Amino acid sequence: MSENHNEWQFVKKRTAAEGAVYVSADGTRYRRTGGSGLRAEAAFQRRIAGLGYPVPHILEQGVTDDGLHYVVEESLGEQTLHDRAVAALGSRRDLPDDVTDTAAQVAARLLHAQAAHLLKPTPHALRQWLNSAGFTRNVFEENPDLDTPRTHAALDHALEQLGTVPLTAGHLDYGLPNLLPAGVIDWQHHGQVPLGYDVLPALEIIPFKGGNKGYTAGPGQRRRYLAAVDDASLSTTGQPVSQHLGAYLLVKTLFFLALMRPTDLSHRDKHLKWQYRRHLLTEGLEQYERTGTVDTALFPTLDDFAARNRAGDHP
Ligand SMILES: Nc1ncnc2c1ncn2[C@@H]1O[C@H](COP(=O)(O)OP(=O)(O)O)[C@@H](O)[C@H]1O
Ligand SMILES: [Mg+2]
Repeated sequence: MSENHNEWQFVKKRTAAEGAVYVSADGTRYRRTGGSGLRAEAAFQRRIAGLGYPVPHILEQGVTDDGLHYVVEESLGEQTLHDRAVAALGSRRDLPDDVTDTAAQVAARLLHAQAAHLLKPTPHALRQWLNSAGFTRNVFEENPDLDTPRTHAALDHALEQLGTVPLTAGHLDYGLPNLLPAGVIDWQHHGQVPLGYDVLPALEIIPFKGGNKGYTAGPGQRRRYLAAVDDASLSTTGQPVSQHLGAYLLVKTLFFLALMRPTDLSHRDKHLKWQYRRHLLTEGLEQYERTGTVDTALFPTLDDFAARNRAGDHP
């Protein structure tokens, strides 16, 4: 099972990194290529696999003839929860309950593993999490007008609120597309996170996609999911993590705005999506200031946003 390229089928180019993903002809293994970032990702994944995290085991690692790094890992199954949700889409748009219930089970497993390996929070580590999870440098470079005392006041407030939440090894891009019933794939963005940051917002972040992914989580599904995550955190740390949902979603508004500014402003679709994510940051910020939390179900869809802007009704 070495470098026989014929046995690997191309899956996709890696999002937000050089390299690509391939699957073995029999579907039992996945292979990623990439630069030095891939090596760091694999080292991280090996470490957390050793800590009992539900992640694919790494089977092989090396350097290709072209000097790229490659990593082979076991498959966790055929369908991500996102794939399963899309396949189930029919006349109704609510996620199937078995998807949200499975998501809650995976979340509880990951949270238990994370809660068994906690680190004491420090202001420095928490700031680092904010900067990597929120891609703050990129976001403020691409959107200098949002680099304001007001934005920083809200972020500082979030960090204060999280000041005593323990840190743990985290995923940073946790969501249905990287989840399978057997565990969590794609640890590209990894780093230290305050407990709950990964699993808590998994259903809450669906609206950031603009409603074009087809499915939405209903209020009952979201409540059940958050309650399941709270049960897991209460039984391990004695604290419900859901009290931090607002702070976490504020950081997600940055994450989803990162790398969105098109280099070519004539790309109208890309330009619209960028403006949309800018709007979601502003709306999330307002909600957080006003209520201490963020309800993403109140976000406009991308189509609503586009229609509103065409009508000249700029937010
Ligand atoms: N270990 C794995 N088990 C099952 N499916 C996988 C595995 N690794 C990758 N995949 C599939 O390949 C897709 C792309 O891999 P991923 O690492 O998530 O790439 P990206 O960084 O582009 O999101 C996933 O969405 C999933 O469908
Ligand atoms: Mg992925």
